[in-house]
This record gives sequence, structure tokens and C-alpha cells, in this order.
Amino acid sequence: MSKFSQTVGLATGLALRRAEVRYLAYIEHEPMAMLQTRKGHEDPYAIYRLMRQNGTLTLSPRGNFVTAHHRVCNAVLRDRRFGVAPDPDLNLSFLGMNPPDHTRLRRLAQPAFSPKTLPTFRDRIEKTVGSLLDQAAAGGAGGGRFDLVPAFAAPLPISVITDLLGIPDADSREFGEHGAVVGSVLDGIQSVRHAARFQAANARLHTLFESLFELRRREPADDLITRLVAAEAEDVVKPGELEHMVFLLLIAGFETTVNVIGNCVLALMNNPEQWEALRADPEHMAPKAVEEALRYDPPVQGTSRIALEDVELEGRMVRRGQWVFTMIGGAGHDPDVYERPDEFDIGRDASAEHLAFSGGVHYCVGQPLARMELNIAMQLLAERMPKLRVAGPVRRRKTSTIRGLRQLPVSAA
Ligand code: HEM
Repeated sequence: MSKFSQTVGLATGLALRRAEVRYLAYIEHEPMAMLQTRKGHEDPYAIYRLMRQNGTLTLSPRGNFVTAHHRVCNAVLRDRRFGVAPDPDLNLSFLGMNPPDHTRLRRLAQPAFSPKTLPTFRDRIEKTVGSLLDQAAAGGAGGGRFDLVPAFAAPLPISVITDLLGIPDADSREFGEHGAVVGSVLDGIQSVRHAARFQAANARLHTLFESLFELRRREPADDLITRLVAAEAEDVVKPGELEHMVFLLLIAGFETTVNVIGNCVLALMNNPEQWEALRADPEHMAPKAVEEALRYDPPVQGTSRIALEDVELEGRMVRRGQWVFTMIGGAGHDPDVYERPDEFDIGRDASAEHLAFSGGVHYCVGQPLARMELNIAMQLLAERMPKLRVAGPVRRRKTSTIRGLRQLPVSAA
């Protein structure tokens, strides 16, 4: 197929999809489609409430099931009769695989996030957070004003994950930029221009990774890429798998953490008494603020599982090959599990575990690193910028699977 007809095909497909979403959202008031509208981007939690009112497990017009109940999301994510399937737009390595391939590859990545390895990163993370905050306060728009997303929330996870993978400092900005473009596809291709940017970023990352793998074969170092290259040499990793795995780690590492920082700070700014509680005791309250932000406004709003066999669930039959969409954002606001679910309260008893890191075999492998990064970020932010306040228009990303901010102008003075 020529490039021209490919482009026309893509543009037509996107236009048809957009028209279908509009019809379902505005005429049929179908909740999954409503999530993809402006109203859904502003307040998805009102739509999850609607989903819960419709039942614990409901059928969508496309013949798939949807749940925004904590109990049902949790059960589906842990049930081995459900699995995943590869994403057609983006190869997400073991996140798109079922056991045993999933287990084989996940095992290679896991040691990088173990309690033994992680403490070695604490000092580096503290230093990075400290210097980003210094730069933000000194630079920006003057008078202690800066945009928290590009100045703090985004560069922190990029720096941490490139460090963990062993990407040389000189290249980390380029990996970060292209990785962000590739990661933006987690919410689907939005336009022909988006597809072109994605392809270009993908191609550049491919070249960068190829030369980095080559370098680590020649000159091994104490980093994750060196260990993965060695596993490839021992035939534990099949040809082509290595690159997708490193892609996954790079993208999962920053498309999520950046948005927790933004969502958490915004929730604190919107609830000044909660900011005050954090500011009064940053070391003790930072982890609580992070956990509450993960429940209240998680960066991954939903995921999905495909039935690997017929499964009876909530009195309905989910046939093999049917999908169940598990709305993690909705689970965090389920009144059967959380009192006052729509209130942001960092002092809340956190005994009911949120599902922001998913559950079952795909439970986020980077979770210990993400928590360490986020706790340090929120603690140092409260210690160093106690007068923080919003200082301009806040803009959200126009996405529904990934939830986060594009812009959060603040003043520290
Ligand atoms: C607060 C930040 C983070 C959140 C909220 C988050 C959330 C998630 C979720 C929801 C999943 C599972 C998706 C599903 O079940 O379909 C997942 C999987 C994963 N995450 Fe995270 N993540 C975060 C940070 C990280 C970091 C820092 C890394 C590492 C660099 C990472 C690496 C991964 C990987 C590799 C998987 C795939 C696990 C598997 O399939 O077994 N994540 N994450």
C-alpha cells in the first residue's frame, strides 16, 4: 500500500471513530464514549458513578463488558481465566503477554526494582528532586513562578528511569523526548500528524537503543540494559524482545509518575487544609498524600482483560474473546469501599488498597520505585516550597486512559 493511501486510510478510520464516539456519547449517553468527551476529561468520576448505578458489570454497545466497582475490578485483574492481548499500535512487551512468556520476561526486569537494589537510588533521587526544585524556583517566570509540569513533574521520572536503565546522561534528554511521544500513544493515535510524530520518534528510539545495546555488549556496566543484553546472549530473551521490553520500562516509567505528581499537587492546592497537613509534617504525611492521590485521581484510569475461556461473572456470562474494561479510576471512588469517596483526605485510613497499580500478574513492577520517587518529591516540595499556590490557568491532557495535567502554573513565593 502506498504512503498516500495509508494516510487516507488512517484519516478515514480516525474520523469514523470520532463520529461513532460522538454519536454514542451525545445521543446514546453511553458512559465509555462519554469518558472520551470534554466532560469526561474534566470529571470522569461522575461518569464512573453513572456506570456503577447501571450495575456491577454492564455490556457496552461494542459487545464488551465494563465495571467501575472496586470488588469486580479487583476480581477480574486477579483472575487467571482473564488475560491480555498485544496492543495493535504499540508493542508493550510483557504487559501485552500472558504467562508463561509474561513470567519469563517480567522475571528479568523485577530485580531492578527489588528492596535490595532500590535504596541505592534514594540518594540520587533526593539530589535530582532538590536540584529540580532549586532550578524551578530560580528560573521560570520570575518571582518564584514556574510551570510545575515541565519544570518538575516531567523531568524527575525521566531522569530516574534513564539512570536505572543505564542511558548515558548525554542521551537522556533525547530518550525522554522521543519516549514521551511514543508514550502518548497509550491513549490511541489521535490524528495523522500524531501518527507521523509517533513513527519518527519510534524510529529514532530504535536507532538509539541499537547503539546503546551494542555499547553494553562491548562495555558492560552495572545497569539494567547490561543485564538484559546478557540475558539475550544466553537465549533467555528472543530476538526483538529486548528492545520492546526496554521501551516498556522507559514509557511506563514516566507516563505515569509525571501525572501523579501533577494530580497530587493540584488536589493539595484545591484543598488547602490538606496542603497544610502535609506542610506541617512532610516526612510522615508525604507517603499518605501520595497514596490518597493514587486513589483519588490515578494516572492510569482503566485497563482491560480478555476472557481466555467462558467465565460466569456477576451473574452474567463473559464469553471467551470478550473484553472486560476495569475502570481503576472508578474503583477508587466506590462508596462500598471508601467513605466520602469524592473527598481528598490525606489522613484517610488507607487499609482498603487502591488499584492504581492494577492487580494480579500484571501488578505494576515499577511500583516500589514509583512510590520512592513520589514520596521524596512530595516531601521535599512541601519542605522547600511551603507557600506553594496555583498561579495561572490549569490545563488537563485531553486523554481518557492516562489522566494528568499539561500545565500547572504555580508560585512558590
Ligand atoms: C505512580 C506511578 C505508576 C503507576 C500508577 C503505574 C501503574 C501501572 C499499572 C496500572 C500497570 C498495569 C496495567 C494493567 O494491569 O494492564 C502497570 C504495569 C507496569 N508498570 Fe507501572 N505504574 C507506575 C510507575 C511505574 C514505573 C516507575 C515503572 C518502571 C520503570 C513501571 C513499570 C511498569 C511495568 C514494566 C508494567 C508491566 C507489568 C506487567 O505486565 O507485569 N511503572 N503500571
